[in-house]
Amino acid sequence: MKLAIITGASKGLGAAIARRMMSEGTGIISVSRTENPELAKIAAENNVFFAQYFCNLSSPDELETVFSKLTALLQEKNPETVYVFNNAGIIDPIGTAGNLNHAALIQNAHVNLIAPMMISNILLREVSSEMIIINITSGAAERPIQGWSAYCSTKAGINMFTETAALELQTAGSSHKIIAFSPGVMDTDMQGTIRSSAKEAFHDLEKFQEYKEKGMLRDTETVANALAGLLHKEIESGKVYYVNDFI
Ligand SMILES: NC(=O)c1ccc[n+]([C@@H]2O[C@H](COP(=O)([O-])OP(=O)(O)OC[C@H]3O[C@@H](n4cnc5c(N)ncnc54)[C@H](OP(=O)(O)O)[C@@H]3O)[C@@H](O)[C@H]2O)c1
Repeated sequence: MKLAIITGASKGLGAAIARRMMSEGTGIISVSRTENPELAKIAAENNVFFAQYFCNLSSPDELETVFSKLTALLQEKNPETVYVFNNAGIIDPIGTAGNLNHAALIQNAHVNLIAPMMISNILLREVSSEMIIINITSGAAERPIQGWSAYCSTKAGINMFTETAALELQTAGSSHKIIAFSPGVMDTDMQGTIRSSAKEAFHDLEKFQEYKEKGMLRDTETVANALAGLLHKEIESGKVYYVNDFI
């Protein structure tokens, strides 16, 4: 039995990854604040395991509590492979340095960086099944985008965590792997948030509005299929993979 833990499986890319993994017979453990009832239905149709854990990933205490229950479940199920998709992410606060709301800044760091690091830490400590951790990153990790200093910084952080943890696993002789995957621009709620930001807060507003108008945002199904294709190949731990190389 294979299981996939997916944060932010309730919508957007996370939901598409869940649908794709279930179509391949992989059971899903969904972690998010809200529920997507469609996923449990698809799991029943595909006769695969499904569990929903409600968790606000910006709260370290809540994360600890939820993941201690989740690791107990993994120990009971003892799957041959566990995929961990650290997918949940937020773009806010959008604004230039000097104008950032601190509560939003802290939330961004928690959801985009601290939660994936804590989840990886807990699971690497507690899970004995073969594990592949996939951190969903962004092109913004590698280039500055004015108005996105929080997002660029936390995504750059997750890339460096990925590379460092991979080296540590290799040194320890572990068979677990950890990679980052950059999905490119997709037609999700996150892009809606970006398009609704103020021009003075986000320098490239028109460019992103054009992405939508000209149909340049990929659908999440295409991206999830590309990611699943990557997982069928020999993957190199520590590497940042880019969606365009798999489409
Ligand atoms: N869309 C793009 O163009 C794009 C481009 C590059 C990279 N990415 C990355 O792709 C990933 C998925 O993004 P998306 O576009 O699919 O975003 P989305 O449609 O806005 O979905 C975000 C997901 O994250 C979850 N989430 C947000 N805050 C959370 C919290 N505090 N606790 C728990 N879950 C939380 C949401 O679930 P709940 O609301 O149910 O909690 C939701 O399922 C992100 O890591 C993003 O940075 C997106």
